[in-house]
Amino acid sequence: MSSDRRRLRPRALLAAACLLLPPALAGCRHDMQNQNKMRPYRLSTFYADGASARPLPAHTVARGDLRADEAYETGIRDGRPVADLPFPVSRELLQRGRQRYDIYCSPCHGRVGDGKGMIVTRGYKQPPSFEEEQLRHAQVGYFFNVMTQGFGVMPSYSAQVSVADRWAIAAYIRVLQYSQAAPLSDLPPETQKAIAGDLATSAGPAAGSPAPGSAAVPPSVAPAAPRPQTSEVP
Ligand code: HEC
Repeated sequence: MSSDRRRLRPRALLAAACLLLPPALAGCRHDMQNQNKMRPYRLSTFYADGASARPLPAHTVARGDLRADEAYETGIRDGRPVADLPFPVSRELLQRGRQRYDIYCSPCHGRVGDGKGMIVTRGYKQPPSFEEEQLRHAQVGYFFNVMTQGFGVMPSYSAQVSVADRWAIAAYIRVLQYSQAAPLSDLPPETQKAIAGDLATSAGPAAGSPAPGSAAVPPSVAPAAPRPQTSEVP
């Protein structure tokens, strides 16, 4: 009986201390902010090699990390940018592409892809306009690859933008290119009439190209000629 009481005493003292000494309360906590875990690359005395991280077993792939489809993951097949999107073009895809483009690309490339984004006006290197001949003829896989790998001073966006979203953006870049050079005859008849009316009433500058995204979906996302110097992609 008396030995039982002695065994309880230290715990009772600790509880009392925690209640009576508010500043000491922090020391009584053993919850999520204080875990028995290893940070990456932290030294460990547990394993013989002194590293807490275990080497990957040979010939294994972490769950969800299998990159079996090279063209889908890189935009390149047999050393050349792929010409087609990996999935059919839909309005939803292009809208998703526009939304992601506006978030991740327009700060530098501008909302219409002219390379005059806000960051550029503050001194960042100006990217080329997507209207440039070379980029107009680039395959859709090329845009995917630039986003994935980065290009020159432009960083890779593979960490921020998922594979599927990078394809959606690549498709939307085609829309931007098309919207900036769409022939009047491609627009719906009502829009053509409205523009003709505007042109007739205003002697000023032509009410030129339609706003991005307002034009019809491009007939094809695959342009004519392949881009010659793909090996330049870093
Ligand atoms: C921080 C600014 C910035 C952002 C954000 C950015 N870019 Fe760029 N991008 C650049 C610059 C600068 C270049 C030119 C790089 C160079 O020549 O060194 C460039 C070049 C490019 C090129 C042209 C490559 C060529 O062949 O000339 C493409 C295509 C491109 N970017 C696509 C994108 C897409 C798509 C996004 C959004 C996921 C994006 N960029 C986001 C700054 C940016």
